[in-house]
Amino acid sequence: MTAYETLLVENRGPVTLITLNRPQALNALNSQVLAELIAALEAFDKDDAQGCAVITGSEKAFAAGADIKEMSGQGFADMYGSNFFAGYDRVAATRKPVIAAVAGYALGGGCELAMMCDFILAGDNAKFGQPEIKLAVTPGMGGSQRLPRAVGKAKAMEMCLTGRLMDAEEAERSGLVARVVPAAELVEDAVRTASTIAGMAPLAVKANKEMVNAAYETNLQMGIQFERRLFHGLFGTEDQKEGMAAFVEKRPGKWTGK
Ligand code: CAA
Repeated sequence: MTAYETLLVENRGPVTLITLNRPQALNALNSQVLAELIAALEAFDKDDAQGCAVITGSEKAFAAGADIKEMSGQGFADMYGSNFFAGYDRVAATRKPVIAAVAGYALGGGCELAMMCDFILAGDNAKFGQPEIKLAVTPGMGGSQRLPRAVGKAKAMEMCLTGRLMDAEEAERSGLVARVVPAAELVEDAVRTASTIAGMAPLAVKANKEMVNAAYETNLQMGIQFERRLFHGLFGTEDQKEGMAAFVEKRPGKWTGK
């Protein structure tokens, strides 16, 4: 397995568990974390034995944001010229599902990284926020776009303009997170959830992910059309035949990914 300096990556059966590991900086996301995260996600996407990934941090911090110390001396030409943060597009482009398991702080880029994942499971001590305004900047990794889609304009605008944090209970109520679990059980719960997903027919997993994501990119009519076409397409797979036969024969399905 590849060794990383800012991540711990382990395979738990068919689940790739990626743990952000810069405790001295509360997992602040610097260029090395990004490069390693992309490498780990690309390896995960290519590995047929892996069906779902979990990204987590520590109990104190999922990630306290982009690395302020790395950014502080940069000018416009550096940021615009290098298209700073564009590398994060690779995270959302992962074809297999990725779950964010968030305990503690998920601030700025940390909140944005969590929102790039397919869904968020939160520990009961989780705190979400886009406090960039306090640094005289704005979200830069998609937060101003994904947060309103998740929690609505009013809460997103208030959070971006004041920097106020949202706790786990409010995050669940607002639709930002799928479920809240005790922080001590978060990683085990996320790995269990990921194992359930990894046990499904792989092409159906990809299709479900693509069509739910399409709901954010298309109007209703186009989205429904996209859903229907992908649904039709799955009837060309061996796993669809197997899945429906297994139901009729009252036995678990055995998937080939074909
Ligand atoms: N970047 C770099 N270092 C960070 C960091 C960050 N985002 N967040 C925390 N750290 C470092 C601290 O500097 C500190 O390092 P030293 O010990 O060397 O001083 C260490 O992590 C521990 O942090 P604190 O002592 O501050 O811990 P705390 O428990 O007192 O406070 C906190 C925790 C409230 C999360 C506080 O660290 C904090 O406010 N962090 C910054 C949050 C923030 O503004 N995030 C947005 C960043 S900008 C961004 O993300 C842009 C974007 O959209 C992509």
